[in-house]
Amino acid sequence: MTHLWSGRFDTAPDDEVFEFQASFGFDRCLFDDDVEGSLAWAEALAAAGVLAADEVAAICTALTDIRDRGRADSGFVEGPDEDIHAFVERQLIERVGDAGKRLHTGRSRNEQVSLDLRLYLRRRIAVLQRELVALVDALTGRAEAAGSALMPAYTHLRRAQPILVAHYFLAHAAAVRRDHRRLEIATEEADAMPLGSGAVAGASYAIDTAELAARLGFSRVVVNSLDATADRDFVSAFLHACAGTMVHLSRLAEDLVIFTSEEFGFFGLADAVTTGSSLMPQKKNPDALELVRGKTGRVIGRLTGWLTTMKGLPSGYNKDLQEDKEAVFDAEATAMRSVRATTAVVRSLTLDPARVETAASGLALATDVADLLVARGVPFREAHEVVGRMVRDLLAKNRDFASLSPEDWRRYHTRLDTEAAGQITARGSVAARRTPQSTAPDAVAAALLEVRGWVHERTAAGNVDSTSS
Ligand code: ARG
Repeated sequence: MTHLWSGRFDTAPDDEVFEFQASFGFDRCLFDDDVEGSLAWAEALAAAGVLAADEVAAICTALTDIRDRGRADSGFVEGPDEDIHAFVERQLIERVGDAGKRLHTGRSRNEQVSLDLRLYLRRRIAVLQRELVALVDALTGRAEAAGSALMPAYTHLRRAQPILVAHYFLAHAAAVRRDHRRLEIATEEADAMPLGSGAVAGASYAIDTAELAARLGFSRVVVNSLDATADRDFVSAFLHACAGTMVHLSRLAEDLVIFTSEEFGFFGLADAVTTGSSLMPQKKNPDALELVRGKTGRVIGRLTGWLTTMKGLPSGYNKDLQEDKEAVFDAEATAMRSVRATTAVVRSLTLDPARVETAASGLALATDVADLLVARGVPFREAHEVVGRMVRDLLAKNRDFASLSPEDWRRYHTRLDTEAAGQITARGSVAARRTPQSTAPDAVAAALLEVRGWVHERTAAGNVDSTSS
């Protein structure tokens, strides 16, 4: 076959090298976007007086036909072409001959690929964001279902202080909302229309770029053709958002692997989201969570790999930039599947309230005893000393605060009495919190309401599938 650039060469390309540099193997997903961009470009050329009315009509009819065929049958988007742009152009020329050959006037694949990927990300990010909303919804559902149940919060993976189980789930929801926001930023970054940049220096036809941007749904036009043809910051932003999302999913997965283990037993995983062992009949493994954690490395790798590709590039388009697509498609698919799997697992979680509450009490109340002394006028450092001694004694006797008699309390400090002892409970600890971001039941109830509103605003009917909440 002839190539887009055959005229310049007197020999056919080496098969292996051609295959190596081609991107058609993976850029087919840009098909719709490439056709959409070409339709808009045809009209822009007509408006600039480059294409006659009958030519643009023929081109648009052919492009629409190509699009319909590609949509109906993915096997249609096939061939010996170098990339998706060459494929669409070949199909067009096969249909309309010379008029088709005119469509590439003033346009370069350098800006075309930038446009396509921007269009692609704009629509795909919205889908990924919807999955994140579903995950936030699932986490909120668990928070609601937990009611007033208590659990220990950990620092250094050592029991720290009691919190509401709802507070725990809302913590992960808060992180996922930041991921949603970061994806929004990637969309904003992609929201600049590059056509009119040419290969590097800009088009020498009277292209109304503002009109083109509006027609393609962009809010602005790129500012510099040299920058625009080699700018993939929107790719970096997207990969960063995916990597950040995966890091959050991974931390949630790690929590759940731990909290659903026999040793902790705070939460239970449904059979449907676990896997058995071929050897050990008793096993119910959290494979999905482990894979989410594992795949995080891969997505972080896509980000770091991509930044490494970018760092040494001289200005203007370089073929290295073609690496953007596999990074984007793989990070996107991996993040998408991981979010969906995580949502399914979260929806399936059951709670063992007795077990979490027992774990939330005991020595996790030490700070509350210190706070109580402070409330009674003892300087905090001194209070810390006193309670430290109590903890040491209790640990030695394998007891906790609840087992201390009124005399025991007083022995440690004259300001500790029966009334004080009565206040040292996990529930009292949680209720004593005052700040809006705290685990105080009122604060958590308000937070829950706020998250519900956030989810509601982002779901068409106000309810993503929340069957298990
Ligand atoms: N397939 C190429 C890519 O993905 C399209 C741009 C080709 N441009 C060029 N000058 N060879 O980057």
